[in-house]
Amino acid sequence: MRSSTSNPHPIFLEEWRAFVAKKEAEAVSAALWPLTTETDEHPIDAVAIGNDWTRKLFGGDFYLSPPSGADLPSTSLVFVQSRDGNTGASNPSTLGAGDTDKHLIYEGLSRVAADAVMAGAQTVRGGKIVLSTWHPELVALRASLGLARHPIQIVATLRGMPFDDSLMLNLPDLRVVLLTIPSWLALMHDQLVSRPWVTPVLMDTPADLAGAFRQLRRLGIERISCIGGRTLARQLIDAGLIQNLYLTTSPKAGGEPGTPLYPTPIHAPVVVRKHGTGPETGVTFEELDLRPIRPSSPT
Ligand SMILES: NC(=O)c1ccc[n+]([C@@H]2O[C@H](COP(=O)([O-])OP(=O)(O)OC[C@H]3O[C@@H](n4cnc5c(N)ncnc54)[C@H](OP(=O)(O)O)[C@@H]3O)[C@@H](O)[C@H]2O)c1
Repeated sequence: MRSSTSNPHPIFLEEWRAFVAKKEAEAVSAALWPLTTETDEHPIDAVAIGNDWTRKLFGGDFYLSPPSGADLPSTSLVFVQSRDGNTGASNPSTLGAGDTDKHLIYEGLSRVAADAVMAGAQTVRGGKIVLSTWHPELVALRASLGLARHPIQIVATLRGMPFDDSLMLNLPDLRVVLLTIPSWLALMHDQLVSRPWVTPVLMDTPADLAGAFRQLRRLGIERISCIGGRTLARQLIDAGLIQNLYLTTSPKAGGEPGTPLYPTPIHAPVVVRKHGTGPETGVTFEELDLRPIRPSSPT
């Protein structure tokens, strides 16, 4: 991974400071409601993380899959779906899963231990987005795990990203990986030379996501939290690159019709199932183990 060498353009530095201040303020001011646990069947090799604050709200430890080994990163998916199973929404908060899902799980436990956060280009394109943790308790948990303040940002793209107006691509202290194909790389040569903090990872074809993941592991990325969207997520599931799915289901119908996470129902062992409380009653959180074979649960 190349190191950063230059300063951000003052416009981006100002935008970044304002973005961080807004995200941190939103995280500390959100009213969060403790989840109740219906099922905890975590496998014996699950990695448990948490601190007093997260355990109180989440109702116990949060489980990660164990490291995948020396060849591939361990990768999870985190999604919210409407009651009728749609995931498409320009702002997924509108699907109705509530602030606890957003701040404790989505921008929290699902990525707090990740070296990198991954998204499809459609999910981050055009937005002023940096994917990280913002609540001080989660920032402290991440620091206690010995990880950098912000995860590496990985964007999967076949058509390229607009460099000039992207916050994520213009912050020299923020490492970014663009997972793409050689034809696009040639077009973006000059943009990349002036941004040594952005590292391209190339696939011969879009079908070679497994090869790309092996390259990510060789770059030192051991754990990835992938936030979707569904186009990228389906391919990662089909390629066998996902170990666990964190899926929150809202009590509300909605979202763009016909946008399920996966074309068919996902049948996989439930690691935990939890429920929202207070005004978030009706929200269901599930962790599913997508590994084909898993060690037995403790009795
Ligand atoms: N409910 C949720 O939890 C959730 C989560 C995330 C997103 N969303 C929503 O879902 C929608 C976006 O989802 P989406 O399915 O349309 O798009 P997406 O999965 O976010 O991104 C698709 C893009 O990823 C790139 N891509 C796809 N396959 C690739 C491959 N094999 N290698 C490299 N790059 C690849 C392509 O980029 P190019 O465009 O560059 O060709 C493609 O257009 C938005 O409304 C978003 O807000 C919801």
